[in-house]
Formats: sequence, C-alpha cells, structure tokens
Amino acid sequence: MSEIHKPQITILETPGKVEEYVADTVIEQVHQAPDSVLTLPTGGTPIGVYGLLTAAHAAGRVDFGNITTINLDEYWPIPRNHPASYASYMERHFFGRVNVPTANQHIPNGEAPYSEAEARRYQEVIDAHAVDLGLITLGPGKTCHIGFNERGSAVDSRVRYVSLDDETTQANLRFFDDPSDMPIGAITQGVADILAARHILFVATGKHKAWGVRRSLSGEISADAPASFLRHHPNVHVILDQPAASLLRSDSVI
Ligand code: F6R
Repeated sequence: MSEIHKPQITILETPGKVEEYVADTVIEQVHQAPDSVLTLPTGGTPIGVYGLLTAAHAAGRVDFGNITTINLDEYWPIPRNHPASYASYMERHFFGRVNVPTANQHIPNGEAPYSEAEARRYQEVIDAHAVDLGLITLGPGKTCHIGFNERGSAVDSRVRYVSLDDETTQANLRFFDDPSDMPIGAITQGVADILAARHILFVATGKHKAWGVRRSLSGEISADAPASFLRHHPNVHVILDQPAASLLRSDSVI
C-alpha cells in the first residue's frame, strides 16, 4: 500500500453528466457481474445517481436482485427511522425503489447499544465480502474525508466509532430538521476497508469541493487529507464536474 498511483481523472461539464457517468458505470458493473458487491455512499452527491439507477431499474434496464451493498457509514446513535439516518436515506433513495434483497443490504446499525460491538460486527460483514466497485464521495471543506474518516484517520484504519469534524457537522446539519437531533459521531468503514475494493469511483461535484479535490489529488499523501490515501490504490477513477476540478492543474496531479 505504499506505492503511489496516478488516478484516471474524468472531468465532465455538469453534476448531471457526472451522475449519468457514475450510474452507467454501476449498471455496466452489474451487467457484467450480476452478483457484484458495491460500497455505497450517502449525502447530497449521490442522490441523482440513485435516481438514475432507480429509473433504469423501473425501465427494466438493470436487475439488482443479486447484488450485495455495503454502506460506508451511519450516524451513531440514531434511530433507524429518523429521516436523516443513512438507513432511512438508503430506503428513500434506493432500497425502497429497487430489488436489492434485504439480506444483502448492509449498513451499520445506528440503534446498536454499544458502538464498539457494532463496529466489530460490521467489520466481520466487510471482511466476508470482496468489493467489486466502491462509490466514494468527498467530504466538505477542508475535511477531505472519505466515509467518515476525518482528518487524522490512518491509512490502515478499520471500522470504528469516530467523532465528526466540526466542518462535517456544519455541512450535514442541513439534513436535520431539528439540529439537536444530529449525533456527534458515527460508525464508519476505515480507510483500509475502503481501499480494499477492486475498483473505486471517487466522485465530487461543485465549487465547494474544489479545494478538497486539489488537496486530495496533489501534494502530500497524509492523514490530514484522508482522501489522499486513495492514491495508494491502483484502480481509482476520479469523476468530477468542472467546478470541482477548477483548482486542479494538469501538472499538479500526481
Ligand atoms: C456518506 C459519507 C460522506 C459523504 C461526504 C460528502 O456516506 O460517507 O463521506 O459522502 O460527507 O457529502 P455530500 O455529498 O453531502 O457533500
């Protein structure tokens, strides 16, 4: 994992084009291997992707009946049916609208009484699967987080409870009608778990992600930009819209 690779980078005009590209890549993966294992993110960036996947399923263009999904993270503690839980999010945007078997849907349990025990359980789930395609999005501002691996996360980190960075909390409060409902922590896949995928799509859209994109793809690979660890993976494809790519210079990407 100490080798450094130059990721393939695709820059598209709009977030809509990014969503189409990502959805088409997922559909192609599932066509090639109907029993694919996918790592899935939540948040604002992938909502359009889930919309396109749902539409493709409704049109009979793709069958999710044999895939397995492993989500990146979940707030902890949070009731499963809280509208801002990632379990609710996945139900609303994807699982409730397609045919992924319930037994194949994996997400940390925000209702588990002990975060350490839940992290151990989720680690076992991850270790029992070989991920074919990981969809990974970039955290807000200067966090450069992937999953909820905030600054300071090690390249060999595994599933665990983490405290959310202030910037993450500020950014994600938009999903909570009552700000006092927002947990201060989460259970997340570790950086090493994310890097274990065979192929990774790293996706960012919007001007507000431009600094993080540049920091993640150029400069030092270090724990103060956990997304920079993606450059240790030999098969990462970065998909950006133009605003997210706006601070990248072609000679700055290593
Ligand atoms: C969510 C997750 C986070 C978000 C990231 C970006 O499962 O793992 O890393 O993907 O915070 O969120 P948005 O897309 O809302 O900017």
